[in-house]
Amino acid sequence: MSRLLHALDSALRDLEQRSLRRRLRIAKRAGRHVHVRDEDGTVSSPLVDLSSNDYLALSDHAHLKRTAIDAINEHGVGGRASRLAGGHAPFHEALEHRFARFKHAEAAVLFPTGFMANLATLGALAGPGDLICMDKLNHASLIDAARASGATVRTFAHLNYDQLERILHRAYCSKPGRPGLGAHSAAGAGKTFIVTDAVFSMDGTAAGLPRLIDIAVRFDAMLIVDEAHATGVLGPTGAGLAEHQGVADRVDVVISTASKALGGLGGIVSARQVVIDTIVNCARAFIYTTAVPPAQVAAIDAALDVVRDEPARRRRLQHLAALVREQLTKQGWAVPPVSTTGELITTPMIPLIVGDADAALALSAHLQDHGYLATAIRPPTVPPGTSRVRLSVRTDLEDDEVTRLVNVLADARTPMPSR
Ligand SMILES: Cc1ncc(COP(=O)(O)O)c(C=O)c1O
Repeated sequence: MSRLLHALDSALRDLEQRSLRRRLRIAKRAGRHVHVRDEDGTVSSPLVDLSSNDYLALSDHAHLKRTAIDAINEHGVGGRASRLAGGHAPFHEALEHRFARFKHAEAAVLFPTGFMANLATLGALAGPGDLICMDKLNHASLIDAARASGATVRTFAHLNYDQLERILHRAYCSKPGRPGLGAHSAAGAGKTFIVTDAVFSMDGTAAGLPRLIDIAVRFDAMLIVDEAHATGVLGPTGAGLAEHQGVADRVDVVISTASKALGGLGGIVSARQVVIDTIVNCARAFIYTTAVPPAQVAAIDAALDVVRDEPARRRRLQHLAALVREQLTKQGWAVPPVSTTGELITTPMIPLIVGDADAALALSAHLQDHGYLATAIRPPTVPPGTSRVRLSVRTDLEDDEVTRLVNVLADARTPMPSR
């Protein structure tokens, strides 16, 4: 084995020893049920799926499937060319207009994935000399995008907006060239961005957007919000957290994914026209990639129909998530509260924080033994000492499946043996 391969192999062994090695596991899904194949080839009996982000159960929705198939029949399979080099089709334009309306925004632009949308947005808008302030628990794609942009990146503790204000104060006072903040303002210096997840993927917590808007206005910063886990889930029309908190038209840039509650795949940025035009002109992840293919666009369009026409899905999801959260908190599980301000808000991901990686693996195995698939989340996805099992509630869970889940977890409150 070459020296390089040997080094890679020993790094993997080290992960293995610390119970941090990840392995792909084949999962075959149908609706809310999933079969998983273990390394030894054994296939599980059907498990209730609490591991996906298909919160509204749209992945298997007949309308999405039919619309996607029709789009393939009409337009073919491939995206064919990049958008600027001839791949821009009427269905892209129509979806972007529709999505902008859905998000209470002026314009929108579509990407193949949410990860790319985040990379593209910060890559196009921020650069050296700029300042990006981010919540410490932001999604990896935002962290990577911020780093890749070349801007100075400062993080604040999770939802700690007092600390954010202190960072901004310090930045403006030490760099009088930055715009904003009255006496310190001067034209021509770097731009400032505040970047946050709307709903945090590993904690199920929610940002306080009204306060962030207030801070952004005071410091002349642009607020960028990743609504990946809130789109389709929160707000009177399912537009997301900003809509839920009554500020949908006051967030500068919103990034959504179609890969969670919308049941498909795709990232969509919505903002003022000038921001979208800047992304189209400057984002390498937009310019140098192939247009999103017809079936993917059609599925997003159909998902928006369902979000509009079947609000009962959203209501049932909220009901179940609130129920599970309440029961598990009563049992004494360490479930972080969704909001730090006492605001009434329910999100569908419920993390059971158990501490070390072995304990998380053991809890996940216990759930699997009792018919549920919920993944153990370990470092580096979460900070050391906060390994957890994340339950993703979905709208199509049956009442008895929820009751049994709560009972299974009550049994697990006695310490789990490590595997
Ligand atoms: C908060 C957040 N942003 C962005 C993404 C990336 O979205 P996608 O899966 O569409 O690439 C995810 C998905 O894991 C996410 O949780």
